Order: sequence, then C-alpha cells, then structure tokens
Amino acid sequence: MNMDMTKNKKGSMDEWPEPIVRVQSLAESNLSFLPDRYIKPASLRPNTTEDAPAATNIPIIDLEGLFSEEGSSDDVIMAHISEACREWGFFQVVNHGVKPELMDAARENWREFFHMPVNAKETYSNSPRTYEGYGSRLGVTKGASLDWSDYYFLHLLPHHLKDFNKWPSFPPTIREVIGEYGKELVNLSGRIMRVLSTNLGLKDDKFQDAFGGENIGACLRVNYYPKCPRPELALGLSPHSDPGGMTILLPDDQVFGLQVRKNDTWITVKPHPHAFIVNIGDQIQILSNATYKSVEHRVIVNSNKERVSLAFFYNPKSDIPIQPLQELVSAHNPPLYPPMTFDQYRLFIRTQGPQGKSHVESHISPRPR
Ligand code: OGA
Ligand code: NI
Repeated sequence: MNMDMTKNKKGSMDEWPEPIVRVQSLAESNLSFLPDRYIKPASLRPNTTEDAPAATNIPIIDLEGLFSEEGSSDDVIMAHISEACREWGFFQVVNHGVKPELMDAARENWREFFHMPVNAKETYSNSPRTYEGYGSRLGVTKGASLDWSDYYFLHLLPHHLKDFNKWPSFPPTIREVIGEYGKELVNLSGRIMRVLSTNLGLKDDKFQDAFGGENIGACLRVNYYPKCPRPELALGLSPHSDPGGMTILLPDDQVFGLQVRKNDTWITVKPHPHAFIVNIGDQIQILSNATYKSVEHRVIVNSNKERVSLAFFYNPKSDIPIQPLQELVSAHNPPLYPPMTFDQYRLFIRTQGPQGKSHVESHISPRPR
C-alpha cells in the first residue's frame, strides 16, 4: 500500500463523510415531512408501526434456580436455552439476578442524558475510528441512507479501554450507575456463556476461554429513537446481526420497537417487565460452527413516543483469531469460517453500516473441491 492510500484510508476513519445531523434536532424541529436521507426503499419499510405486536413472541426463559446448589431445574432451563439459541438466536430472560432498580436507574439516567440539549452533548461527539461517544450514524459511505436514531457508545472492558473521560458526566449519577450496571452484566454474561458451552457438550468454560478468558471485551451502546414524523417510511435501526459475541438488551419499558427475523417475517418483541433480551452474535455463530444462530433484527419507530434501549455487547478479546471450535468440527462437519480477529471483523459494520446478515454469510471458508 503506498503512502497516499494509507493517508486517505486514515482520513476516512478519522471523520464522517459529511456533517452529522442529530436525529434529536430533526425531531425537535417538528418537521411535517421526513428528510430524504431517512426514507427507506419500499422493500425495507416496516409493514406496520402499530404498537400491538403479533401473538408470537421470542422464548421467555426463567433463570431462577440455574446454578443453584440444588440444581434440580437446570436440565429443563438448559434445554430451553439450547432450543432458543438454535431456532431463534434470541430469547428473554427473567429472574436473571440483576436488580430491577438498577435496570431502571440505568435506563432513566441515559434518558436524562439524551434529553439534554444537543449542544451540551456535542463535546462527546464520536468518530468512525473508535465509535466511542455520541453518534448518529453507523458506516462511512457518503450519501448512505440513514437510520432514525442517535446513540452513545462506550467501553467497559478491557480495563485499558475504559476511559471515564469518554463517558458522560451528566446526570451526576450516570457514571456510577453505568459502572455498576456493567459489572452485573459482565457477570450475567459469564453465566450464560457457561450454559452455551455446556449445551454443546463442551466444558463449561470453553467459550469463555475461546473469547480470551479474563481479557474479553464489553461495551455499551445506548440507543435513542426520537419520535418520527413518518414512521412507516423509516427505521430506527436497519436490519443487521450483531458482530460481537452475545448481546444483552435492556429495552424500553413502555415502547415496543425491536423486531426479530423469523423465517421471512419480522416478529415484534413484546418485552416482559424487567426481562433482558439476549441474542447470539456473529462470533458465537462462528465458534459454534453455525449451530447457534446470530439472527437478523431491526428497530421500528413511531410518531408519538420516543424509545431508549441499552445494548450491552460481550465480545472476544479483539486481537485473537476466532474460528469454529475444534471439538465441533470433523471431516463430515468441516469448519464453515476461516479464522479472523474481532478487530478485523467489526471493521465491516463500522465502514459499511448495518447490512443484514451479509457479513457473516460472506465470511465463509473456501470449499475444497
Ligand atoms: C443494537 C440493537 C435493538 C434495540 O443496538 O444492536 O439491535 O431495540 N438494538 O434498540
Ligand atoms: Ni443489534
């Protein structure tokens, strides 16, 4: 690569391809129309933006008793999780051990943050190089279609990436709440990872080891979806699968919005009170050699209610190669994916933006003939 190309490439990652417009600003200017950049082509528009979800819902799993001393109910819970990971890639968990007060505090602190004037938040404005901070787009393609949301992205782990200066300082309780929330979710993720390993007939720490043991990554993406003047033409977040290991989502307690792809329909998730929504990301699909599915999802918006959600991402250490586990492959069941580090892997969504499942589907090993 010659010097000029390096420079151009670097330049394109240090800044956005065009000035950033905050969706909050658009929403607050009471537009009666939707700006062109947010109008999706007909094939991507949501078929409905009604609040009432279909009767179908993703599985709800009660974790009460899991890993308890008695352990009597473990088999049933584990089988339920196993089926959810294979068939849905998504499930809700209740009795997960995280206090409801902490969940509400986390969501409401962030809601307060997003309610601050846009100007007060610009000091945290992010760039496509690290995505840390206050952002309003995913991907760096000039002229790309945009989603109806602002967000905040920060690192919780590893410790050397955790930087309080990149975390908001308002409201005054937010840093402490994020810290505590992060700790609890790292803990919960560790428990779920053990279930995922065991359910594949592996030692319970197998996935955790493959993720780099103690050195895993954890980050938080808080999504703010303002009211939208034409929700039937827009999306809050375009179809994508999560590039990381596993996601634990705290949805808004009042407003639906997340839709999960099941066969060829979009199912609107109806969150159970104080449940978390767990989903398999691309890295676990890869480790499991596609036994577990990283499933496409998207977010719809509406005209009379804003929505806030917290997506916690549990990721492999970013510089170790991730590939199907040796125990899960054989001559008859060859590895579907070549090794790739998460640092390399996530460049795709960071430059291209959300593109359905096209990344993991194109990340396939060449077949010997
Ligand atoms: C995400 C995501 C869903 C939501 O942040 O990756 O899918 O309901 N969020 O906000
Ligand atoms: Ni997602």
